[in-house]
Amino acid sequence: MSYGLNDIIKKVLPKRLFYRSLIIVATPIILLQIIITVVFFDSLWIKANKGMTRSLVGEVETLFDVYRTQKDEKHKEVLIAIYNKNFNLTVALKEDEILPKEKTERWYSPTDRSLRRELKSVFGTSYWFDTTTYKEKVDLRIKYKNGVIQIFFPKEKISPSSARIFALWITLPGLLLITIAIVFLKNQTRPIVNLAKAAEKFGKGEFVKEFRPSGAKEIRLAAYEFDRMRKRITLHLNQRSEMLSGISHDLRTPLTRLKLQLALIKQENLAKKMSDDIEEMERMLNEYLEFSRHQKNEETEMVNLNNLIKEITKKYEGKQINVNFEENLKINMRPNAVKRCLMNLIDNSLSYGKKVEILMKKTINSIIIFVDDDGPGIPKSEHQNVMKPFYRIDKSRGQNKSGVGLGLSIANDIIRSHGGNIVLEKSHLNGLRVKISLPL
Ligand SMILES: Nc1ncnc2c1ncn2[C@@H]1O[C@H](COP(=O)(O)OP(=O)(O)OP(=O)(O)O)[C@@H](O)[C@H]1O
Ligand SMILES: [Mg+2]
Repeated sequence: MSYGLNDIIKKVLPKRLFYRSLIIVATPIILLQIIITVVFFDSLWIKANKGMTRSLVGEVETLFDVYRTQKDEKHKEVLIAIYNKNFNLTVALKEDEILPKEKTERWYSPTDRSLRRELKSVFGTSYWFDTTTYKEKVDLRIKYKNGVIQIFFPKEKISPSSARIFALWITLPGLLLITIAIVFLKNQTRPIVNLAKAAEKFGKGEFVKEFRPSGAKEIRLAAYEFDRMRKRITLHLNQRSEMLSGISHDLRTPLTRLKLQLALIKQENLAKKMSDDIEEMERMLNEYLEFSRHQKNEETEMVNLNNLIKEITKKYEGKQINVNFEENLKINMRPNAVKRCLMNLIDNSLSYGKKVEILMKKTINSIIIFVDDDGPGIPKSEHQNVMKPFYRIDKSRGQNKSGVGLGLSIANDIIRSHGGNIVLEKSHLNGLRVKISLPL
């Protein structure tokens, strides 16, 4: 039961930190306002209204009682004048008139309700009033002999006018407080949002500028630690690739020396085999060096994948490449790296199969690229291995004799560094399907 309630609350509550904090701040303010308004209305306004109505009806009753006892018309006029002067009642006797039939009472108005109650207790049913036709006056008619006595009195005699002003005074500061809270909360949540964005960028392999921690102490600390971690990881990565390319570079000199020395060997058969091996080693080194040179200094930019794939397929003219894509696939990435990755995959497909199919589409938070071919495919047990550098399933298998086994691992590395991933599957063309997903 409580679990269900929890779920509902979680669903109803906003997901963003800013809106959650805003609710925490605004709810007490709004609740307080509602409580104060209700209490004020009930205990002050309604009671004051009742008292005022009672005294007005008392005035009218007194007027009536005195009016009735006067025989002389002159006295009656004097009485009316006195009431007008002292109580602000405009009184007129209308002979041969009857009370209007139509009801003008508003059922929801507390003013009307208490006026009706008070009048009923004094005049029974022989009264009629109208509080809506005139803006500031109430039209009250009471049966008198063959006619009616019509009394106009100001509305403010029965309704305490402060209700609206009070409502204004209670909502204005509330709105002001909430506005101030919004400004402060925005400032408090911005550093967290910035931190999240920086972490996301870093995860996608994008360049993160010097990150300046800001905001509350805890957030500042988290941001500071994130920045240190980012620097350590970057340093570590750079060191590793620099070391590898250093080794690769330095190995080339002894290899060249070996090649020269081979020329001096008499046994030609042996010399040939050895020089083949040396050449393969050289190819491997060159391949790796080229990759690490490219990988280094490229910055991410907004790229239209449609144009990129068109550029790539131009280079494979005459080959069976089928491309399908959704329009307007834009994504932040290092274009040369992704180009290299796709070309590696296409190269593989064309050397192990004949037909290639490329499909690109967009999902809510990523772009998916499928590269399918009709080659022999890769058995499931080898899926992990082929991603390793310099790994080739069966050296005698491929027609691609010149391969060194770096293609897939480079492609994998590139996609990983963009925060995406590569999965190998079986293709509907019976060969290999490579599924790339890049986060948006
Ligand atoms: N489309 C494919 N169909 C069948 N086997 C494949 C396919 N792509 C790769 N492989 C297998 O995976 C191995 C590793 O591929 P990878 O691209 O890493 O190396 P390579 O193609 O042999 O050499 P390189 O790409 O460095 O020239 C290949 O040797 C091949 O056996
Ligand atoms: Mg390859």
